[in-house]
Amino acid sequence: MIQLIRGFKDILPGEVELWQKIEQEARTLFESFGFREIRIPIMEKTELFKRSIGEDTDIVEKEMYTFADRGGDMVTLRPEATASIVRAYIQHKLYAPDPAQRLYMIGPMFRRERPQKGRYRQFYQIDAEVLGVKSPLADAQLIYLLVLLLERLNVAGAEARINSLGCHACRPDFRAALQKLLASVGDRLCEDCTRRKDRNPLRVLDCKVPACREALSDAPSVVDYLCDDCRRDFDELQAALTSLGVAYIVDKRLVRGLDYYTRATFEIQTGELGAQSAVAGGGRYDKLVKELGGPDLPATGFAIGFDRLAEIVGLQAGDYQPRPDVFLAALGERSRSLAFEWCCRLGREGIRVEMELGDKSLKSLMKSADRLGAAHVLMIGDKEREEKVALLRNMGTKEQIAVPFDGVIATVKRLLTK
Ligand code: HAM
Repeated sequence: MIQLIRGFKDILPGEVELWQKIEQEARTLFESFGFREIRIPIMEKTELFKRSIGEDTDIVEKEMYTFADRGGDMVTLRPEATASIVRAYIQHKLYAPDPAQRLYMIGPMFRRERPQKGRYRQFYQIDAEVLGVKSPLADAQLIYLLVLLLERLNVAGAEARINSLGCHACRPDFRAALQKLLASVGDRLCEDCTRRKDRNPLRVLDCKVPACREALSDAPSVVDYLCDDCRRDFDELQAALTSLGVAYIVDKRLVRGLDYYTRATFEIQTGELGAQSAVAGGGRYDKLVKELGGPDLPATGFAIGFDRLAEIVGLQAGDYQPRPDVFLAALGERSRSLAFEWCCRLGREGIRVEMELGDKSLKSLMKSADRLGAAHVLMIGDKEREEKVALLRNMGTKEQIAVPFDGVIATVKRLLTK
């Protein structure tokens, strides 16, 4: 038997209803905050991700599904959405009527990481981006939105962590200080960090190898090197979060795994996911639009790990199982063909209806209706056909009503929707 690819998964009926519920809450919230949906391709030119996420990141170095297509072009299954959204923003000049654009997307991403709980090779993100807005209030609003969504989904114990990574003006000073430390602990660093420490020292701060973390326990923090502008923005972000009643922690080690970040970065973490503590992450990327060939416009955004969110929501998948409004229990072939016609017509009317298409006893039909959790059963047998009256049984109250064949669809619809 051919099994699915390691790190990929099926989301089966029973679980999918929970995903739909999460998606619906997210869409409702995004739309209340003025976001519009954008749909981007699953595959892009490899160059796009190299240039935006950064050549020295784990994602680009080790995790992308990259291959030459049949024409020899290098293409990559998207590992994240920001790069593509920025590409679309530039390519379609979405900034022309008004640079400020709030966009969201929901869909699968691909990273060839080592699979474990909360970490998959195909996973889903709910991604939101605010392009063309410089104010840190946009960051505050994004964090607030995340907190609201988690609240609506009954997620307990989530914690917002924020940091600032500075800008092109203040980062060089920080970089110099960090490089000084890295030079002194050089021989204790892992292979990746040794390779990255000169080209991209910030990456070393993101390393999860215990020896590197230990060697960097005294590492300087970007927050201590912020220029006046960055400091003012970071203070404004914190003041806005406080005024919105959002609890947060300043985490000076939060550097994030992608190179495009500037200034504010944030994550929502929870203890419920084991090693994979981040349920959402994001931040500002004020230079990316320009670096990808667009105008010099700032931007900020986040992505939620949909799979991780589905694992920690305080909702039961069972609560969202669809149940039929009515189950048609027909006895005998002639009743069944009549019921089949009613079944199709009721479905057309938007009634959730199910029936058994094979030959079954009344007992087994009632069992099926129970298993499906049908609210009503409409019974038709020889006697009902003779009298031209079907029986509608309310499975909760056990009450039965006679429904004349004449106008049966309209009557059932009226009885079920009142
Ligand atoms: P990221 O931190 O790489 O950021 O991913 C965001 C979230 O996606 C993570 O917090 C996590 O919940 C989920 N995630 C990442 N990798 C996996 C995986 N292998 N399996 C399951 N879930 C995963 C970004 O992708 C940025 N594009 C976020 C952003 C948007 N920044 C600005 N705008």
